[in-house]
Amino acid sequence: MEFYEAVNKRRTVREFEQEDVPEEVLERIISAAFKAPSNDHLRDWHYIVIKDKARTAELLSIIPKGISEEDMAALIKDWALDDPLQQECYRKAVPKQYSMLFDAAAVIVPLFLQKTDILRPENISHLNGFASIWCSIENLLLAAAAEGYACDLRIPLGDESGHAGKVLGFPEEYTMPCFIGIGRPKEGSRLPKQKEINIKERIHRDRF
Ligand SMILES: Cc1cc2nc3c(=O)[nH]c(=O)nc-3n(C[C@H](O)[C@H](O)[C@H](O)COP(=O)(O)O)c2cc1C
Repeated sequence: MEFYEAVNKRRTVREFEQEDVPEEVLERIISAAFKAPSNDHLRDWHYIVIKDKARTAELLSIIPKGISEEDMAALIKDWALDDPLQQECYRKAVPKQYSMLFDAAAVIVPLFLQKTDILRPENISHLNGFASIWCSIENLLLAAAAEGYACDLRIPLGDESGHAGKVLGFPEEYTMPCFIGIGRPKEGSRLPKQKEINIKERIHRDRF
């Protein structure tokens, strides 16, 4: 698939067909993730691929399986989600946080080395490792799209990463930025509408 086609095709998908992603495809996708730029030139990243359903259930057991209408309304208010398209997206996404990972063909957990306290950076360069792993994750998302698969993302909340560390046994010095679900997009499932961006208004020539 041509590069811009993959870029345009990539969407966050939260419903999947019951279909495996073959190991060789996963390996190509994760190899693409390792082609990303890295702040320290070391690409000290790991990707854990979880396909075993018992392990997946244990890993995800800490994630809420849904949300009440009241809690959803409170979330929209507390997070100041004012844009109607943004609200539509959250209304579709939040109730699926568990199923979008459990029903995926695999859950992928990226790991990166964070040498300083990520929640108390002293300057922006303390976040370079975090920025680098997200470059790597974007490569993975685009490679998945190029292969005809799709992904979703969940940022670990509360103790979800501590729990993942125990279930998956990764070393404490590694940080997980997110959970990734990957699979074949479910036919006919409707995705939230994208906000239209007028690119000409967002590109500034010589000064803002
Ligand atoms: C840093 C980051 C965090 C995200 N966190 C979540 C999340 O916790 N749960 C979720 O369902 N989607 C999450 N997403 C996916 C976004 O909701 C999605 O990218 C956005 O709505 C745009 O839709 P698109 O990816 O289909 O273009 C996240 C995306 C990014 C880049």
